[in-house]
Amino acid sequence: MSQPPLSANGARVLADLNALRAIGAYKSGVHKPTFSEPHLASLKWLLAKLPEAGLTGAIDGIGNVLTRSEKAGPKLLAGSHLESQNHAGWLDGPLGVVYALEAARVLNTDPAVAGSVELAAWCDEEGHFGQFLGSRSYVGAVAEAEIDAARDRTSGRSMREALKAAGLAGIARGSAEPGRHIGYLEAHIEQGRILQSEGLKIGVVTSIVGIWQYRITFSGEQNHAGTTRMTDRRDAGLALARFCVAIDARFPEICGPRTVWTTGRITLDPGAPSIIPGRAEMLFQMRDADAAVVARLEAALQTMADEVNAQGRCSVTVECLRKGAPAIMDDKFQQAIEAASASIAPGKSLRMPSGAGHDAQVLATIMPAGMLFVPSIGGISHHWTENTSDEDIATGAEVFVEACRRLLMS
Ligand code: GLV
Ligand code: MN
Ligand code: MN
Repeated sequence: MSQPPLSANGARVLADLNALRAIGAYKSGVHKPTFSEPHLASLKWLLAKLPEAGLTGAIDGIGNVLTRSEKAGPKLLAGSHLESQNHAGWLDGPLGVVYALEAARVLNTDPAVAGSVELAAWCDEEGHFGQFLGSRSYVGAVAEAEIDAARDRTSGRSMREALKAAGLAGIARGSAEPGRHIGYLEAHIEQGRILQSEGLKIGVVTSIVGIWQYRITFSGEQNHAGTTRMTDRRDAGLALARFCVAIDARFPEICGPRTVWTTGRITLDPGAPSIIPGRAEMLFQMRDADAAVVARLEAALQTMADEVNAQGRCSVTVECLRKGAPAIMDDKFQQAIEAASASIAPGKSLRMPSGAGHDAQVLATIMPAGMLFVPSIGGISHHWTENTSDEDIATGAEVFVEACRRLLMS
């Protein structure tokens, strides 16, 4: 009689995720900025697990954990990231790494599966030093000069210094071997509330948003907050505030149905109660899965800046810091996730776009890529309260392993 196929061990997956949560714990989440001690300890934790999965591996010269399987047959690349945003959640990243580890443990050691999963933990998906530096390095899109210039956005430490302190200076960066992998599969928490509110278990990602980021800088005149009459002021802070309100009035007329925009940081210079700010800066981000929509919004941003400059009281410049292309997920990968979900949690999956950025969008530039989501409780993420029920984590792991099996066997 034939044996049923081996599947994910939910208890083992939860134990691994909790072990990673204990490294750099912060309240119920974690604090693991890229190249911090807990981040590096998490990479080493992963290396120690590789033999269980029939994998060998190492940390490369940009902080990626890259692995190899000697098993014959097709190879599927799978993974996510182990660093976190500052003081953030325990699942954003580690869930996808542990699912990939579990898939490798189950499938690589099963002689009935002709093929294997190779695991990757990409460095700095959360953008402490740049934009997807680890996965972009792997696809050949990071020049040495970009690493030379990269600095930790919180501490200002240079990436070169961080690599040296981590013992990674002078180590070669790994890169994709053309033709080695049939594609890349990544699991992640949804980070939104659609799955939970619809009572669903699995999101089959159709596309991943592009992320465009800008530094918008206002220049006025620094002066005394008591003696300068309101009509005489050139208040850069006020000009910035008006600009934010103008964006919110104009963008809804020209954006797409799922476009989002955020002013994530405002800095007033010199930033004192008795001084009119002479300079003000905002970091502004917008996201959409359609590059044409963002191009339209970018043009509107520039027109609004031109209007401020024409009015003359303050001047403004718009500098683009990041232009991330959106990515479409491979149809065969979407079908494999959907079929795996139908066999484990019938009627509980939904095709949906991702509003968050993921390494899968970088890998999609060189190979077929797919993504699977599990529900996020209350849709909270990038916060230490981020969570997913144990039951949903276990179901997601089963679907992920089954999707990997289907992709390897098809
Ligand atoms: C990734 O974490 C993002 O900000 O989308
Ligand atoms: Mn993530
Ligand atoms: Mn994140």
